Amino acid sequence: MIVEEKSKKEVALTGIKPTGTPHIGNYLGAIKPALKLAEHYNARYFIADYHALNVIRNPQELKDNVYEVAATWLACGLDPDKVILYKQSSVPETFELATMLMAFTAKGLMNRAHSYKANVAENEAKGKDPDFAVNMGLYTYPVLMAADILLFDTDVVPVGKDQKQHIEMAVDIAHVFNHNYKCECIRIPHPIIGEDIKTIVGLDGRKMSKTYNNTIPMFASSKKLRKTIMKIVTNSQAIEEPKVPDECNVFSLYKLFASKNQQKSLKERYQNGGMGWGEAKQELFEVMEKIIAPKRLIYEDLMNDKQKIDVILKSGAEKARSIASAKIRALRKTIGID
Ligand code: TRP
Repeated sequence: MIVEEKSKKEVALTGIKPTGTPHIGNYLGAIKPALKLAEHYNARYFIADYHALNVIRNPQELKDNVYEVAATWLACGLDPDKVILYKQSSVPETFELATMLMAFTAKGLMNRAHSYKANVAENEAKGKDPDFAVNMGLYTYPVLMAADILLFDTDVVPVGKDQKQHIEMAVDIAHVFNHNYKCECIRIPHPIIGEDIKTIVGLDGRKMSKTYNNTIPMFASSKKLRKTIMKIVTNSQAIEEPKVPDECNVFSLYKLFASKNQQKSLKERYQNGGMGWGEAKQELFEVMEKIIAPKRLIYEDLMNDKQKIDVILKSGAEKARSIASAKIRALRKTIGID
């Protein structure tokens, strides 16, 4: 019996795609807010490794990414004794539910998925076959995602705006299923849409994103972190000139890590003039390092002993499977396969 199941809290479920080394934008935009949910919900976090297979075809890269993501979330405060952390691939019930849901998913619904449509539009723009490089993993992505969610009687799913349509599709599919069997066998989830992380600027002032190659990695060494911060694009004002904090990429990141007092005092130094960009960047480095350093220690400790991560993921998988297998057993009965 899992302790959390005794409480009547609602269930929150978050999927983490292991498609790259986590950066500061992921931390502020996704990891921090998702971890906060554990205060009010029975929280489940899973690493969506089968989703990643659509894009990552190098086995070592996939493995490394899964460890990096797990270690990052643990280092940022995920407590495996209070929440469940597992790999999607460790819960095979997910794939059985996905197969069940396929039969209740209209092909037309998948045709309308933004990510699939974006691929088709890009192909057409380039004069290629519309389905060039589109595989069934991408096309049926929303069904697998629906299975991830619906398997755990999830009440809320915290996601960015870009994922809202996927949650709506999960809801649609769940309704079709429930309607057919005239039951409430599948719980209807709700999205919690997080703030747009475009407010987190990258090195070049655009939204911090792997795609733009402008990220600050979360757990680079202290030296590398400083070096990366020194690359933030600024204007060419001279040291003596007063500067405008709200138009500056350095200050925009500083605000996310510094206390109100620290912000006020750096703002004054900007406005008074006499402060060069190197100094502002050093201030940013110091506030970031203060928050990251203790987490980095945990991260490095886990990455140097991956067995620790394996043990946590294995125990998470057991807890997840005990919930998932009960759900699948009930659903098998519902559909007449048992
Ligand atoms: N599609 C999500 C993303 O790209 C990851 C994901 C997979 C997910 N399954 C999920 C998120 C289920 C929430 C719930 O970020």
